[in-house]
Amino acid sequence: MELSETLNRRRSIRSYTGQMADAAQLEAILEAAYEAPVGMGRYEGIHLTVVTRRSLLAAIDAAAARMFGKPDAHPLYGAPMLVVVSSDQGGNVASANVAAVIQNMSLAAVDQGVGSCYIYGATRALAQDADLLAQLDLPEGFAPLGSIVLGKTDEKYEPRQVPTSHHFAQNDVA
Ligand SMILES: Cc1cc2nc3c(=O)[nH]c(=O)nc-3n(C[C@H](O)[C@H](O)[C@H](O)COP(=O)(O)O)c2cc1C
Repeated sequence: MELSETLNRRRSIRSYTGQMADAAQLEAILEAAYEAPVGMGRYEGIHLTVVTRRSLLAAIDAAAARMFGKPDAHPLYGAPMLVVVSSDQGGNVASANVAAVIQNMSLAAVDQGVGSCYIYGATRALAQDADLLAQLDLPEGFAPLGSIVLGKTDEKYEPRQVPTSHHFAQNDVA
């Protein structure tokens, strides 16, 4: 798919069939993660954890629903995979790094025809729960800052109208 088409069609997918992306699709998406720009090129400060264990996904989903005060909600949308992006630092640059990594994965997901959605809320619930955090088995010093759900979907990535807004600063007149 042309890049411009991928950018235009990207959107958040919130319904999943329950089937995982194929191995080759997942590989392309995980490779795109590390093609993202990262402050000072510190790729070693980013760690990805691929979660597919159903009991852990269900526990994260339930913890997030409790945090939102909506016990019947499913903030992971029944997706069969959550890729948690962790950082060994906090602050604005770390959050920007994680966002760039997740954005790259979401664009690769469009290219691969795989459903995806950026997940911040459930990541916060996960980061606040010591038991869930222990199950991630992260390297020492890393904490989750963002995640993306991935999986097969019956939804389609169609062309879409997007709002635009910008103004030109007081530039030199050519
Ligand atoms: C930093 C960030 C955090 C987000 N967290 C969530 C989330 O926790 N749950 C969710 O369903 N969508 C989440 N989203 C998706 C946004 O709601 C979505 O991108 C936005 O509404 C625009 O819709 P679109 O992605 O379909 O274009 C997040 C997006 C970003 C950039």
